[in-house]
Amino acid sequence: MDELKHIPVLKDAVLHCFKDIQGTILDATFGGGGHTTALLEQNKHIHIIGLDTDPDAISRAEDVQDKFLHRLHFFHCNFSHLKLLCREFDGILMDLGVSSFQLDQAQRGFSFQHNGPLDMRMNSNEGMSAKTFLETGSEGELIKAIRDFGEEPQWRSVVKQILSLRHSTSFKTTFDLVHFLQKYTSLRRSKKPGIHPATRVFQGIRIYVNRELDHLKEGLRQAFECLNPNGILAVITFHSLEDRIVKQFFNEKCGKSRHRFDTEPRQFKQSQASSAFRKPIVADDNEISSNPRSRSAKLRAIRKIL
Ligand SMILES: C[S@@+](CC[C@H](N)C(=O)[O-])C[C@H]1O[C@@H](n2cnc3c(N)ncnc32)[C@H](O)[C@@H]1O
Repeated sequence: MDELKHIPVLKDAVLHCFKDIQGTILDATFGGGGHTTALLEQNKHIHIIGLDTDPDAISRAEDVQDKFLHRLHFFHCNFSHLKLLCREFDGILMDLGVSSFQLDQAQRGFSFQHNGPLDMRMNSNEGMSAKTFLETGSEGELIKAIRDFGEEPQWRSVVKQILSLRHSTSFKTTFDLVHFLQKYTSLRRSKKPGIHPATRVFQGIRIYVNRELDHLKEGLRQAFECLNPNGILAVITFHSLEDRIVKQFFNEKCGKSRHRFDTEPRQFKQSQASSAFRKPIVADDNEISSNPRSRSAKLRAIRKIL
């Protein structure tokens, strides 16, 4: 097992969510197997199928498999293709975003705190690295990443400077990008104490190059189709963009859709699910102090009816 410390977020709430589930649970974002391990320990009768798009998760899954043998099967797969497994599940967990393994390894290029190649791909075998994106992305694509996905208020300055200086600038490493932002854009100082000024730009580029929101929409749709009646679908989000998608999808399944393009009269909508909690679960102060990443986590869950 990796030496790095990995603490599964909202572990107790996740265990509570799945406590009555028998049969097979899909952990669609295996990561370091923290939630999987806790679930397998909680209920000695369940089986878990683990998925992760990151090839590095394969060896971590093998370590967990050594402990639980035939109770865990792992597939290197994006959850937007989960229907290809041709399986049905009694519970599905998605703990979105990047893992501490990915963030802490400089060579993955996710973090502005470690110097490494500017990559940011969860699956380094497909798609475009962050470096290539900055070197070749159109103005519209850069705006999508930095304004829409990064929600960076200074997006105009960042996009303008990338477009005008990229031919003479190197974006080889994460620190190249940090220095560029600090030297040439209005992001010299963060307005929020304790938040690094490059946080939002890194987040936006990461979401863009991994097509995270597209995969989430497709993953939710397929997850719900593959869920048995009475099954639980639980999702942990880390920022408002993904949380909005999950909330809207869950509301729609619970017959509470208020989507503004929704033209069907509400009375004809049939509930296919019910909310497992009245409000999303968030981390308490203890968890936030031991695992600061949990401060923005929200757990939402629904139970399938039909
Ligand atoms: C927050 S970590 C999960 C940590 C895990 N719950 C644990 O306790 O160890 C998120 C993981 O999901 C994976 N991931 C993100 N998007 C994915 C997708 N579309 N399909 C499959 N895996 C994905 C990432 O590679 C990362 O390993």
